[in-house]
Amino acid sequence: MFSKTSSFFVFEHTDTLQQYVFLQKKVMFDALRPQVSSIIDSNKTPDAKMQDICELLKASVPHYDWVGFYFKNGDKRELKLGSYAGAPTDHTIIPFGKGICGQVAESNENFVVPDVQAQDNYIACSITVKAEIVVPLFVNGENIGQIDIDSNTPDPFTKADETFLEFINFEVAKIL
Ligand code: SME
Repeated sequence: MFSKTSSFFVFEHTDTLQQYVFLQKKVMFDALRPQVSSIIDSNKTPDAKMQDICELLKASVPHYDWVGFYFKNGDKRELKLGSYAGAPTDHTIIPFGKGICGQVAESNENFVVPDVQAQDNYIACSITVKAEIVVPLFVNGENIGQIDIDSNTPDPFTKADETFLEFINFEVAKIL
């Protein structure tokens, strides 16, 4: 049996652990930022740069199991898959409003999904995926695409992921 005092201690301990994990992730993301910037500054094509970024993130971030960019497909109200790293997906075209990606195309806001099974408007790419984060990509204030991350780890995303992925999209916007 836990006394009130000991459960308070457990809560405090968990809180400290979460802060530690948050700081660890921040250190990892801070180390990746200059690598992303040097990819952006390289003399490759925009598609090759985005491919390099997808591969860098998938290889470097343990909780990123699939990393890809979707972009608005011309004048159509749908997204088209661009560069990605991870298993090939059937979902190369996603209508606006459908799935997590399609919802972000309309909301213009980050969408963090700690548990994909709890979502009814979700498009499953693989049964191993437990969580997803989608961050919109703006060029001149217009939502023209997004970065999409799938994770096989349950509830892995924090504010540090959102800030980092916003930075990625800000950098990618410079080459589009
Ligand atoms: N799960 C996404 C579809 C894209 S895959 O994750 C690659 C969604 O619900 O929009």
